Amino acid sequence: MIDIPIERSEASMTSNSISRRRFLQASGAAAIGLPSLARGYTASEMRGFYANGEMSANVSKWELDTPALCVDLDLLEANLDHMASTMTANGIASRPHAKTHKCPTIAHMQMDRGSVGICTAKVSEAEAMFQNGIDQILNTTGNVTPTKIRRAMNLRAQCPGFIQATDSEPNARLLSEAAVAMGITADVVVDVDPGIRRTGTPFGQPSLQLAQLIDQLPGLNFRGMLCYDAAAQHVVGFQTRKAQTLERMVQATDTLELMQRSGLNTEIFSGGGTGTYNIDHETKGMTDVQVGSYVFMDAQYIAIGGEEDIEVYSDFATSLTVMTTVLNDQYEGRATSDAGAKACTINQPWPIVKGESNITYRSGSDEFGTILYGDDPSRNYKVGDKLEVIVSHCDPVVNLYDQMYAIRGDKVEAVWPISARGMSA
Ligand SMILES: Cc1ncc(COP(=O)(O)O)c(C=O)c1O
Repeated sequence: MIDIPIERSEASMTSNSISRRRFLQASGAAAIGLPSLARGYTASEMRGFYANGEMSANVSKWELDTPALCVDLDLLEANLDHMASTMTANGIASRPHAKTHKCPTIAHMQMDRGSVGICTAKVSEAEAMFQNGIDQILNTTGNVTPTKIRRAMNLRAQCPGFIQATDSEPNARLLSEAAVAMGITADVVVDVDPGIRRTGTPFGQPSLQLAQLIDQLPGLNFRGMLCYDAAAQHVVGFQTRKAQTLERMVQATDTLELMQRSGLNTEIFSGGGTGTYNIDHETKGMTDVQVGSYVFMDAQYIAIGGEEDIEVYSDFATSLTVMTTVLNDQYEGRATSDAGAKACTINQPWPIVKGESNITYRSGSDEFGTILYGDDPSRNYKVGDKLEVIVSHCDPVVNLYDQMYAIRGDKVEAVWPISARGMSA
């Protein structure tokens, strides 16, 4: 489901009702109750309008066939700029995780703002990024089957900027054999477990020994380590998050220093994410942050609170929405829309209706969203009305769509392929 331990997800749900209300009161813009006879341009019509990389038709986002995945360009650009300027101010680099957006256009926007490369979660995702012009790629997940190892080494043969993570001695030996068989030298980092036992090798001697082995194996070039603390990212409350992150990362720094003392190349120490982007530079030795969700944000992330705004994580704006249409308005206190689990997932907290502070949206039903007016009798959506929802968790929602609409104001400015959509192997 999500890449955070379940207890974190529950923690963010508990605080969500207060955070959500405050966030919505602050966000202001109501964007609802729209022309019910809007044209409804289909995905293929929209691709046709954008065939030459420029929109040949004037289409409002409210005219899109739904469900439709939309990204607000002003907000996306502000998020990218804020991350870039924070990295510069803090003297650390970014290596954004493309598992969030799966979209080469956004990866290029990140590279254009100074990122040292991108991360990918799967070799197929890495291939899609490389085919679309991204040539600095760190694949953060190990490949353990012969097929995937061959694929990764094949990609390395074409892409000198490809780096593969590994977390075990047998896997390092298999990578070495495949690289030698292909006549290449493959760049490798050790995935160090921050203590959550998901992937990675333990801190200290086990990581050092693996690094030394990689350094000696033929066909491999040791570049450093990654240590991504998934459990830290959604800790509610900035000060708690900061204290936990920095305490846990001490052992990662110790491990890095062990490697340095034994003469290994430690040019990469990658880690961190959206929840800790402004904390990670305080971890000694960390070179870059693998931030993903900051480009879009979502209901899970806004609930964790930030340094300035302790209730709502408002460092980055919620740029990603799903546009949905009301299908049924016959029953008191509720309406039904066309964006259910297949358009929004069943992740929780539930999606948030943009511009509404009292409405609950549920996407638990496969094809339908349920809009509950709660104690607000003034709301009364009609069949054909459109609403936008801020998604629960951005990564899996993006993975449901072939394309996203880049919107400026209300106007569709571009149609971006989500080229790595479905690339989960
Ligand atoms: C290895 C790794 N690095 C970075 C990230 C990005 O995290 P976030 O979306 O919280 O920025 C993830 C997300 O799950 C991840 O698995």
